Formats: sequence, C-alpha cells, structure tokens
Amino acid sequence: MASAMAQKERILIKGGIVVNDDEMIEADVFIESGLIKRSKSGIDSHTHMQLPFMGTVAIDDFYSGTRAALTGGTTMIIDFVIPKKGESLLEAYDTWRKWADEKVCCDYAFHMAVTWWSEEVGEEMEICIKEKGINSFKTFMAYKDVMMLTDEEMYHCYKKVKEIGGIAQVHAENGTLIAENAKKMIALGITGPEGHEMCRTEEVETEACVRAITIANQLNCPLYIVHVMSKSSALAIADARRRGCVVVGEPIAASLGADGTSYWHKCWRHAAGDEYFRQILSSTGHVMGPPLRPDPSTPDFLMDLLANDDLQLTGTDNCTFNADQKALGKNDFRKIPNGVNGVEDRMSVIWEKGVASGKMDPCRFVAVTSSTAAKIFNIYPRKGRIAPGSDADVVVWDPEATRVISAKTHHQVNVVRGSGRFVPTPPFPSYMYGRIMKRDELVKVEREPYNGPVIKLPTVD
Ligand code: URP
Ligand code: ZN
Ligand code: ZN
Ligand code: ZN
Repeated sequence: MASAMAQKERILIKGGIVVNDDEMIEADVFIESGLIKRSKSGIDSHTHMQLPFMGTVAIDDFYSGTRAALTGGTTMIIDFVIPKKGESLLEAYDTWRKWADEKVCCDYAFHMAVTWWSEEVGEEMEICIKEKGINSFKTFMAYKDVMMLTDEEMYHCYKKVKEIGGIAQVHAENGTLIAENAKKMIALGITGPEGHEMCRTEEVETEACVRAITIANQLNCPLYIVHVMSKSSALAIADARRRGCVVVGEPIAASLGADGTSYWHKCWRHAAGDEYFRQILSSTGHVMGPPLRPDPSTPDFLMDLLANDDLQLTGTDNCTFNADQKALGKNDFRKIPNGVNGVEDRMSVIWEKGVASGKMDPCRFVAVTSSTAAKIFNIYPRKGRIAPGSDADVVVWDPEATRVISAKTHHQVNVVRGSGRFVPTPPFPSYMYGRIMKRDELVKVEREPYNGPVIKLPTVD
C-alpha cells in the first residue's frame, strides 16, 4: 500500500488489476508527486478518533487510529466534530482541527454534529459549509439530554441543511424510549450488557429511522442514516428509496461482521465484547448504540442489501474504549461507554463476507468501501477513483491472501504523523441533489376567486 507518500516520489505499480466502481482493467499505475498519472482506495465514512464521550475519551487518537486505517487499506476517514449542547460549532471545529492536524496519517474530512438548535446554530452551519469545508450535519435522536434533538429541532436543522446544500445525517434511535426502557430494566435488576440491547431494540431503531426519513422527505432534504444495525431499519431505508425518498444507509463493519448474541454471555467482559469481533475490537467491548442485534441472520442480511444497493456505503463508527473503560458500566449498562472499532479491518471484513462469499463483485466492493462515499460527500473523482488526476490513495490488495484478525496480528505500516490533509467537502453533491431540486418547483392552482355565499360563524363575547 502506498499513501501519504513523499511529495516528489515516483511510484510504478505493475502487473495488477485496477478496480474502480465501474470497471476492472489490467493496467500499471504510475504515481508522481502524490497524483495518479496513469492508472483502490478506501474511505471510512464514520469514525470518532479521541472522542470525549460518556465520561472518558476514545483510545484511538488521530495518530493510532489513522495508522490502523492505512494498515487495513483505508486511505481517508471522515470523523465527527461533536460540540456539546450550547457550544459553538465553530469553536468545536477549531478544537477538532487542532487535534487532527497534528496527528493524522491519512487524508480526512469532517462531519459536524448538531446537538442543539438556535438561529445562531443555523448561521454557524452556513459558515461550516461555506468557509470550513463541511457539508454534512449529524443529528442525534438518542442520548436524551446530552445530544438528542426534538422533532421540531430536527425539522429546523434539516430545513437549514437543505437551504445550504448539505447532507442531513441521523443517529436513528428513539431516545425517550431508551431512557424509559432503561429505567425499567434497572428496576428489574437487569444491569448487564443484555439490558443495553433490550432497552434499544430493533423497533426503537426502526421507528426513529422512519421518523427521520419522514422529516427529511417533507423538506426534500437528502438524508444519510449512519450505523444501520438492524434488518428492519435496513428494510425501512430500502422501502423509502423505492418510494423515491433521497436517503442512503450506512451499515458498519461491526454490523456486517458480527451479531449481538454475546450481550447475553455469562462472563461480563465477554458480554461487553463478543469473541469474534473482540478480536477485531482488540479488547474493546461490543456495546454501542444502536446495538448489534441478537438475530444471528442480521450480518448476512445487511450484506445482501449492501450488495444490491438497498444500502449504499460502509463506515466503522470506530470509537474505541478498552476493557477497563468499558468496566465503568460494570454495575449499570447505561454507564458502559458506547462504541466499537473496525477501522483497520473494515476492508477485509467486507471483502471476506461480501466478495469471497459471492455476494458482490470487486467493483461493488470499491463502490461500498470508497467511491460512493466520495460521491455522497462531493469529493469524487479526486477521491474514490483510480484515474489520471485523482489523489494517489492506492491500495494494493491481494484477493487471495488470508489472515486471522487478532490484536497480535494487527501490524502497522510506516507512516508520518501529521502528514494527512484536510479535504473540504463542497455543498450540493449531485449524487444527493441531482433529483430533488426539481421537486421544490411546487405549482399553485390558478382559479377564479370564489364569490358565492359563506356561512356566518357565531361571534364569541
Ligand atoms: O455507540 C456509538 N455509536 N458510539 C459513537 C457515537 C455515535 O453515536 O456514533
Ligand atoms: Zn451515532
Ligand atoms: Zn469471557
Ligand atoms: Zn458514530
């Protein structure tokens, strides 16, 4: 793999097959000064490096996290700036830029979280898109009192998103139901990780998913549903797309690679971090929101929908907490910091479960791991394509190679701290806006004024 290469370097990759999302051709790739002159890259659309969350801080920072990304063939990440309620979006942006710029080893972009609403927030969103290079805005329907927006606030936020040519993103889970269900579980003495899933079931995810789609569709605003974790919410997205809603769904490496049956394991550490994915998670637990699902057919089902474009792209939601951090919730699942990893293994998991299983071809693999993200966030073909003029984020991929994922085999490449660049994401991506602008052209019926009789309403005194 070659990425973040020295600027004057010349590299020739011979004898391979160049795989883009629409073609596979035998070709040599010649790279000069970081640009492809003749000639697979990976974009993780969803990470949280060094996120301060639930009383602690995610252990993968912008250095170790992006180094792991490059090791696994991901050459760009899109991370989230998450201001606290009441905090300025622009100040949070400056904080995250500083954290990232001094450490990133691969190129990166940002999404902005909108965790509260006011006219000033709307004005700052406009600055984000016009001056700061952020075109996507994530809203939370969960994390009541911390990040959750009401339907009315989401409405105003999405209205603004549409006006400025952005992409609305949503964490779809009903936060009110989660809070009430969690109280019920604790009252019943269910304090372990199984309670985490039981209070945020598929229904809780799917209801929010449908509600977000409805709000966005009322506004003709393109919507991106992050971390799709259940069969029923995936079907809700597929159904909305069939009705013409402009909505995309992002399953993650964890939901495609593992189910949530381990939440019921007798051993607490095991329950908070399932064996198979625990390898990938390298000792971080499995508790995340929305949870992995107890239905063991979920990963294959999500992969089928991904292969057939009912779901569109993949991230990881890489937000790692080690076992001791997870143990903050040893007596109350509500206090387990939510998050999984996967940034190093997303490409391999999707190749193994998607391509090696015969569900998708290598072109579709490139689409769901890279090109579609580049198109959605309006950075295609600079990113997401191997072609003359594109950035030389090239992954050399051996389709026959196998390895066992474990903390021990997580080896690292040589990288340069701080060498990644911030990639601005411009407004009005045609992938999301191409169809919907026409729909705003509403037509009023011209008619003669009505001059007939009208009843008199009684006057109230
Ligand atoms: O559990 C999760 N998903 N942690 C990261 C924050 C988020 O909601 O994406
Ligand atoms: Zn989320
Ligand atoms: Zn165990
Ligand atoms: Zn996330």
